[in-house]
Amino acid sequence: YVLGIDLGTSAVKILLVNQSGEVCQEVTRAYPLIQERSGYSEQNPEEWVEKTIDGLSALISGFDGDINDIEGISFSGQMHGLVLLDKENKYLRNAILWNDTRTTKQCEFINEVVGKNRLLEITKNPALEGFTLPKLLWVKENEPGLFNQTAVFLLPKDYLRYRLTGRIHTEFSDAAGTLLLNVKDKQWSEEICNKLGISLEICPPLVESHDFIGTITKEVSNQTGLSPEVKVFAGGADNACGAIGSGILTEGNTLCSIGTSGVVLSYEEHGDQDFKGKVHYFNHGKEDAYYSMGVTLAAGFSLSWFKDTFAENESFQQLLEDVDQVSIGSNGLLFTPYLVGERTPHADFSIRGSFIGMDASHKRCDFARAVMEGITFSLNESIEIFRKNGKKIDSIISIGGGAKNPVWLQMQADIFNATIIKLSSEQGPGMGAAMIAAYGCNWFDSLENCAEEFIKPVNEYKPVLENVKMYEKLYIIYKQVYLQTKELN
Ligand code: XUL
Repeated sequence: YVLGIDLGTSAVKILLVNQSGEVCQEVTRAYPLIQERSGYSEQNPEEWVEKTIDGLSALISGFDGDINDIEGISFSGQMHGLVLLDKENKYLRNAILWNDTRTTKQCEFINEVVGKNRLLEITKNPALEGFTLPKLLWVKENEPGLFNQTAVFLLPKDYLRYRLTGRIHTEFSDAAGTLLLNVKDKQWSEEICNKLGISLEICPPLVESHDFIGTITKEVSNQTGLSPEVKVFAGGADNACGAIGSGILTEGNTLCSIGTSGVVLSYEEHGDQDFKGKVHYFNHGKEDAYYSMGVTLAAGFSLSWFKDTFAENESFQQLLEDVDQVSIGSNGLLFTPYLVGERTPHADFSIRGSFIGMDASHKRCDFARAVMEGITFSLNESIEIFRKNGKKIDSIISIGGGAKNPVWLQMQADIFNATIIKLSSEQGPGMGAAMIAAYGCNWFDSLENCAEEFIKPVNEYKPVLENVKMYEKLYIIYKQVYLQTKELN
């Protein structure tokens, strides 16, 4: 067996996977976001550790096999979050997360000092509030006392791995999301560090996703019941792991993942494809490969916001029970999911969402369906960028919460005008982490061979022409809402 630990934004999800890629056990432990002000989003790194240890020990106590048969562990993690450690490796403050948007000023500063084009040349990405470097500069400017004590920074799953093994590293797929990595050369950029007054020494050592890091500490072995011999591999960014866990390992493959954020992701074999920063471009968890990706900031988050606000005591299943009774277009109701701003295509952190077209006859199910449609329209804007850049997208693998609901899967097929493929497990990132561990343990000689064995498509949703046409009309209106509401904020 191997364990895939996905350190998400809302919860840590742990999968126990056997040699045929079947999920034998899974455990989830949730934790909250700390949102002290509008635009702020933080978490306590120790809470990730506590919840992971708790989840692991629950999983192990329910495991009826031989503990020594669990051979490897790897990680998937929410990207971009900044964790600062002092010279004793103690965390200095709460982690500032990917969906925290306090850093507009720092992004402007990066553009001014490094230069927009030079930044794109080195990192293949523009300065966006969510990325790690602007967060680092925010701390430097606003909390200089803490910044001066910083010995190293880490990404979220790297902190968790450090606490389980005592070893400090990051790997290329997460390093790519910092804006400090030369994505093509796979090295920290001395030029960016120098220009912005950041010491190269606080950048952690870089390894590959499948690299062996060490074993778990005695303390963690005692706390969880895991064997102290279990091998730990570096792992990857959640989107890189989502790609691995869905078999997006060769050119021409596209993924749609609806978690807290939503992404549309496409495999890239080379480091020199140029989208001029319109979509993100990061190192893959597969060695020397890449992926391009558009991001909707509040995808699943829009739905959970809606549930928490209007249906607090119900499950998602109850909330979505009758959305299939609502016709396409939610009876004239349109939603834009800009609750915390938007990344692709607008890169605008001040825009806010809207419900448009409310009628006295609308019921909660109309609103729920409108939220699902709005999220899917937003993801379609990323697909549109890919198609405009010459990518042929006929079929898309769908994972995450959005792949649990058949109405939403058909909606994706109709809005994206592509066949949607559902896999046996919609937990792509956790599965990707388990696959990294399986590959690291030498169960397979490549991730592709592992994918052959592990990834099983179970269902297909084809676009229905009549629905596609209806959605095309609504999509045109959807796109206008951004332009018309931009000035409101
Ligand atoms: C990607 C991004 C999000 C997080 C969510 O750029 O910010 O998808 O990785 O975990």
